[in-house]
Amino acid sequence: MNEEMFGPISDQATPPVYRYFNGKDWLTSSSGKTSEIISPVDGSVVGSLQAVTREEIDAVMDKAAHAQVAWEKMPLNHRVKIMHLAADWIRQNQDYLISLMVREIGKSHGESKSEIARTADLVDYYANEAQSIKGETLDSDNFPGFDKGRIALIERAAYGVVVAIAPFNYPVNLSASKIAPALLMGNSVVFKPPTQGGISGLHLVRIFEKAGVPEGVLGCVTGTGEEIGDYLVSHPRAAMVAFTGSSDTGYAIAGKASMKTLLFECGGNNPALILPDADYNLTASELVKGAFSYSGQRCTAIKYVLTTPAVRDEILPVLLRTMDSLVKMGDPRSPDTKLVGPVVSEKAAEYIESVINEAVAGGAKIVRGGKRDKAFIEATVLTDVKPDMKIVSEEIFGPVLSFITVASNEEMANIVNGSRFGLQACIFTRDEGSGIILAALLNVGTVQINGSPQRGPDHFPFLGVKRSGIGVQGVRYSLEAVSRLKPVVLNKPQ
Ligand code: G3H
Repeated sequence: MNEEMFGPISDQATPPVYRYFNGKDWLTSSSGKTSEIISPVDGSVVGSLQAVTREEIDAVMDKAAHAQVAWEKMPLNHRVKIMHLAADWIRQNQDYLISLMVREIGKSHGESKSEIARTADLVDYYANEAQSIKGETLDSDNFPGFDKGRIALIERAAYGVVVAIAPFNYPVNLSASKIAPALLMGNSVVFKPPTQGGISGLHLVRIFEKAGVPEGVLGCVTGTGEEIGDYLVSHPRAAMVAFTGSSDTGYAIAGKASMKTLLFECGGNNPALILPDADYNLTASELVKGAFSYSGQRCTAIKYVLTTPAVRDEILPVLLRTMDSLVKMGDPRSPDTKLVGPVVSEKAAEYIESVINEAVAGGAKIVRGGKRDKAFIEATVLTDVKPDMKIVSEEIFGPVLSFITVASNEEMANIVNGSRFGLQACIFTRDEGSGIILAALLNVGTVQINGSPQRGPDHFPFLGVKRSGIGVQGVRYSLEAVSRLKPVVLNKPQ
């Protein structure tokens, strides 16, 4: 079944060269340029992705712009049916998708399994929620000077062509979380999958195609950000860019996209603030989950801890004991749920190692981990870290948790608010009231009390401030974000 299902997307060689999708056919690019995708698990070649040409992008964009007009007119309940079918296809192909993702990006088997299940549920939820999105009417007589009757009939309309750009760390879920809402609200989508993770992304596109998304409505172009990114995000046919990735890339895209509508989820660098009355066992297991799941490669990962020196000394042994029982480095293909696998590439691992070494040279101490083996970085805990060290001032996408000591809650808030990032923060305390008061001082998208930062459940609002994002996602919020208000004003006869 997988061959029939996914056959057209590659040339079937070993290792295969994957095709791009112009909205109708799976094609070989005339560029002749490809990037090899090397598995971080064992160094094997998973396949190659092509770099499409500008002319090929133009053709996909043109097709998407033309197809969008009829797609938006299609009754919503037809679009909803297609999305439910796509969710079913994701479930039916879950085993294939899981093993592909484990190999392509090194995400553990358990985490890949959750990503696939979550994606199918998310697509279903979007489809259900889209049916309850409705417009409203406003009467002019509420506003002074407008007694004589005008009515605004306000509907939701599509933007047009949405360029969707997904990251490597959730190559299926964070692709579907852009594609599904945009399509449901009547947009067409030109999708650029990540390079590493792109093979998984192409499989998702094939699923949407098989589910019945009509010709031209969903295209998929491949190539690295350097090769095609600027051209795509500044393309005159694109009305909106939906992006998840690093803050630096987001910042660059925002500059290039000029007046297009933007929906961005960027870097997090999220802090954990531990108050003296925290439940240390709960805090330690949330720190482990927050810092080390998927090897710290989540925008919602905990990157640093703020505590007084006394609290640090008490929590550290509990944390290390919890790591002993919950964390071990190993092969992500194993079903063992304790595993911290590789980061996405050996190059990324070398960079993380160099930043750890730089912190140590600056006075930080390694209390656990710190070593690298190829693409694997040990789950690492550092103390004596200062807020201006690169290990916390930049987003290091790896399994490293840094302790910074402070004298007061105000100092904690100043450090959090002084960061360029503002996705989430978490506070650990037995006194939820104190937690809420401290949360009010933090300029971040979301504050979690007694839990590690996370995007889900996926219908909650998810947003970042400062360099962490633009706009709000989360099922209903995403559907609203990828559509605009369209008022028609009826001037009543006098
Ligand atoms: O990496 C960015 C993701 O949106 C994080 O999602 O909190 O479910 O891991 P997550």
